[in-house]
Amino acid sequence: MNALDLVSSKYNLDPIPYELIVFKGQQLVNLEGQVAVVTGGATGIGRAIALKLADKGAAVMIADINEESAEQTAAEVKEISGESALFVTDVTDLEACDGLADATMAHLGPVDILVNNAGIAGSSGWESRSHSTEEDWKQTYQVNVIGMSNVTAAIRS
Ligand SMILES: NC(=O)c1ccc[n+]([C@@H]2O[C@H](COP(=O)([O-])OP(=O)(O)OC[C@H]3O[C@@H](n4cnc5c(N)ncnc54)[C@H](O)[C@@H]3O)[C@@H](O)[C@H]2O)c1
Repeated sequence: MNALDLVSSKYNLDPIPYELIVFKGQQLVNLEGQVAVVTGGATGIGRAIALKLADKGAAVMIADINEESAEQTAAEVKEISGESALFVTDVTDLEACDGLADATMAHLGPVDILVNNAGIAGSSGWESRSHSTEEDWKQTYQVNVIGMSNVTAAIRS
């Protein structure tokens, strides 16, 4: 299943026409030689982004808190573009983000593309609650806002 089909099936969309990104057989975007970091790249939207970047030729670093899924996705990326790496990262932890930046440089080279995708919608069990709790908001802020700042700062330095 390619990345477009993956997104379509996950969100019950009509299949996304390949013609939207390919014109007369020519790929409109070529990312060969580019290095991308995708946070939350192990599953869901992040995984779909990582596979699409790989499809366009990029080497992709999968940065995720979920090691098992990160390994699977990094292996899929490698099959597509030939180059991938993974770094188990909690984006709320600045030291881990510094480690991510160092590991990316060491394994793939300088970063060209950063996708700050890692995110949550609440603390554990939020799906089953009818109302958000203070903890939901605190954790969501930590991951979705502070996490994005941490990763961006680490990659830029
Ligand atoms: N799915 C939607 O409808 C929707 C809508 C609006 C925004 N978003 C945003 O899009 C992004 C991806 O959504 P999704 O549906 O693919 O979510 P998902 O839960 O399927 O995937 C999120 C990924 O982020 C990782 N992650 C979570 N916390 C992390 C942390 N602290 N450090 C590193 N990695 C962490 C998870 O392990 C997972 O692989 C999120 O930021 C989400 O808030 C999603």
